[in-house]
Amino acid sequence: MAETHQKVVLVGDGAVGSSYAFAMTQQGIGEEFVIIDINKERTEGDALDLEDATPYTFPKNIYAGDYPDCKDADLVVITAGTPQKPGETRLDLVNRNLKILASIVKPVVASGFNGIFLVAANPVDILTYATQKLSGFPKEKVIGSGTSLDTGRFRVGVAKKLGLNPASVDAYILGEHGDSEFANIDEATVGNVPLVDFAAKRGLTKEDLLQIEDETRNKAYQIINMKGATFYGVGTSLMRISRAILRDENTVLPVGAPLTGQYGLNDIYIGTPAVINASGIADVLEIPLSAEEQAKMDASAKTLLATAHKGME
Ligand code: 2OP
Repeated sequence: MAETHQKVVLVGDGAVGSSYAFAMTQQGIGEEFVIIDINKERTEGDALDLEDATPYTFPKNIYAGDYPDCKDADLVVITAGTPQKPGETRLDLVNRNLKILASIVKPVVASGFNGIFLVAANPVDILTYATQKLSGFPKEKVIGSGTSLDTGRFRVGVAKKLGLNPASVDAYILGEHGDSEFANIDEATVGNVPLVDFAAKRGLTKEDLLQIEDETRNKAYQIINMKGATFYGVGTSLMRISRAILRDENTVLPVGAPLTGQYGLNDIYIGTPAVINASGIADVLEIPLSAEEQAKMDASAKTLLATAHKGME
């Protein structure tokens, strides 16, 4: 009987990385889990702490490692980078985090790694693009966390107001994972019923939904002001994407995906739904947007391209 054995390497053992590692201990996937960070003592401590979860969840070999361990990995997840301080935007991090990223992607590729990259460090859309360029990997094998977290946030916001399970809200946050992102309110549905109609029956207007979109956009700032950082939400959305890859699920998830003509855009990674399976991004979906939302997508792409050019100078 063929035995499943999959190996995941996490690069970056800060709050986001260790939350992701913890989320992965709750799943029967990724039987080998390696943690790399410049702070070696922390990775060793985290590996010891996390292995104590395995008797109560799933057997897993968790250990602190180094770049040569990426050689036979199925998935390398990059969370390393400087996080935002209160008052900073994600785009403010571009220069610092591009340097850190380059110092990671090079040794990962040098190890002989031939799996899938999943990138979460910010500004994530630009760093995902840079990972693909630096690695020379096929685009479908480099995935960004994109608007996965933001989509979850919007669904939670809408669900709270409508008294629903967030999983029943079929809506997406599209564009940059950042200040120019937007919700596809005009096309979103609940049980195939247009979201605006469903909301209207419960006394909510499109303005109210736009208000939830705005709260979604600002939720990271709110959390950072309150506790200094965000990590459980993104750690769990990274776990969800990882599961779709490792289980070859063909699940449609919001991610940071490479556009090849979708939304009239090219040569950019941006938040949109995509089909995720063992080969990475199997298909990039294009939601037919209203004219107003297409303009928001164009503006978001413009913001990202301007920052990317600045960061690469
Ligand atoms: C978040 O949205 C800061 O990008 C991080 O929570």
